[in-house]
Amino acid sequence: MKRELSPLKDYLVDARERKYALGGFCIWTYAYGRAIAQVAQKLGLPMLYIIGDAEVKFFGGLDNAVAAAKTIAGEVDVPVILHADHFRDYDKICQAIDAGFKSVMIDASAYDLEENIERTARVVEYAHRYGVTVEGELGKIAGCEQKLSLSQEEALQTDPEEAAVFVEKTGIDLLAVSIGTVHGEYHFPPHINIPRLQKIHSRVSIPLVMHGGSGTPEDKVQEAVNYGITKVNLATDLVRVVGESTAHVQSGDGFGYSVANMYAPAYERLADFAEHKMRLLAKNILPDKV
Ligand code: 13P
Repeated sequence: MKRELSPLKDYLVDARERKYALGGFCIWTYAYGRAIAQVAQKLGLPMLYIIGDAEVKFFGGLDNAVAAAKTIAGEVDVPVILHADHFRDYDKICQAIDAGFKSVMIDASAYDLEENIERTARVVEYAHRYGVTVEGELGKIAGCEQKLSLSQEEALQTDPEEAAVFVEKTGIDLLAVSIGTVHGEYHFPPHINIPRLQKIHSRVSIPLVMHGGSGTPEDKVQEAVNYGITKVNLATDLVRVVGESTAHVQSGDGFGYSVANMYAPAYERLADFAEHKMRLLAKNILPDKV
C-alpha cells in the first residue's frame, strides 16, 4: 500500500463538476483519523483531514501529524489528504509543506483586500512549486460568540466581485467563502445566504469551501453543494460526538476505568456520524447500493 498523501485540488475540481462535496474532518489523534478513514474506504471517497494549530499540537508537531496521516494512507486504498486549516503565518505554512502537507490554507482574511491578495499570492508561489493545493479566504467567517444583526452579518460576507479579483490575482486553487456560517455552535438561528453564494459561484470558476459546517442546516448545505461548495469543514460536531459518547460511558455502570470502554464507543459514534455526513455531501455520486 502507498503511504503517500495527496494534493486536494483535483478531487475538488471533480466535485465541482459533478456537484458533490467532501467533508473536511478535523482530527486530533491517529485513532480518530483511522475510524473516519474506514468509512471513506467503505464509500470509496477520498479521505480529507483538516487540522489547525491546536490539532497540530495534539499530534506533537507537523512531522507527527504527517506521519499519522501517512500511516493511515498505508491502511486504506482511497486517497488521503492532510490539509493545514487556518494557517496564518507564511513561515509556518512553508514548514507544513516541507513536512509533507500537500494541501494548505492561508487565512489572511483579517487584512484588507490588497494585503490579503499579497499574503495569499506569496503562499501560492511557494506551494505551487511543490504541487501543493492552496485555499484562500475572502470575507469574514464569524465566531459563534459574535452576535450580529443580519445587515452586519452580510457586510462581512464575501463580495462576489472582490472574489473574482482575489482568485485571479492570487492564483489560489480553492476559495473559502463567508455566507453566514459560523465556526463553533450557533447561538442564534443560522441564515445561510444562498443568493450570495450563487453570485460568487457565477463569477468564480474554482471550487468553493464552506467553513463552520457544524450545526449548519443540512438542507442548506445540500443547496450550497449545487452552487460550487465542494468541501465542508467539520470540527465542533466531531468533538461533540466524542464528548457525548465518553461522558455517557463514564456515567454508566461497568465503566471500570477501561480504555476500551472509554474510547471504543466514541470511535463507533464518530464513524457513524462521518458516514452520515459523507453520504449527505456525496449523495449525487454515490450509487444507491453503497
Ligand atoms: P465547525 O467547528 O463549526 O464545524 O467549523 C470547522 C471549521 O470551519 C474549521 O475550519
